[in-house]
Amino acid sequence: MFELTPLPYSYNALEPHIDEATMRIHHDKHHNGYMTKLNATLEAHPKLADKSIEELLTDLNSVPEDIRTAVKNNGGGYYHHNIFWEMMAPNQTQVQGELAEAIKKTFGGFENFKEKFTKEASIHFASGWTWLVKDGNGEISILSTANQDSPISQGLTPIIGIDTWEHAYYLKYQNRRPEYVEAWWNVLNWEYANRIFNS
Ligand SMILES: [Fe+2]
Repeated sequence: MFELTPLPYSYNALEPHIDEATMRIHHDKHHNGYMTKLNATLEAHPKLADKSIEELLTDLNSVPEDIRTAVKNNGGGYYHHNIFWEMMAPNQTQVQGELAEAIKKTFGGFENFKEKFTKEASIHFASGWTWLVKDGNGEISILSTANQDSPISQGLTPIIGIDTWEHAYYLKYQNRRPEYVEAWWNVLNWEYANRIFNS
């Protein structure tokens, strides 16, 4: 059975950028909902019980066809929120070392990267996510995914990512998604990103 881990900080820790009410509903209702549905889906398949969520999503073809879509959607939702909370932090951190170099090499500088990523996340026409991902060769790129489709199902490692489902921002920002994306940059956990890029 998969479990819901508490947030790594308090519900109001990301204020004023991400508000407490949104964090409570997002974690306790939405994240919890994905987990509950995932567990219900897997109940009739004890053989899959030993697999980690990463293993399930990395190799969706090994998941029986009758539950594959449910695992992709609810497993993706469960996993993405697990890492989304880790990708944010109340204290300001900075991109460093090899990741900073890779961003410079790939996008011509941090500001160019930020602009490109912000634009992509702001206009992404779907309930989904926008990510910075790393491929098997260590190359990085910006990727948007629909629904809860996961980069790890494509062999890509998410380094940072923003939830662009309306439930992630609507209480505070309503239809102003670009404002939410701008605010999110203030709470990015670059220590996490640096660590994942180097792993
Ligand atoms: Fe979400």
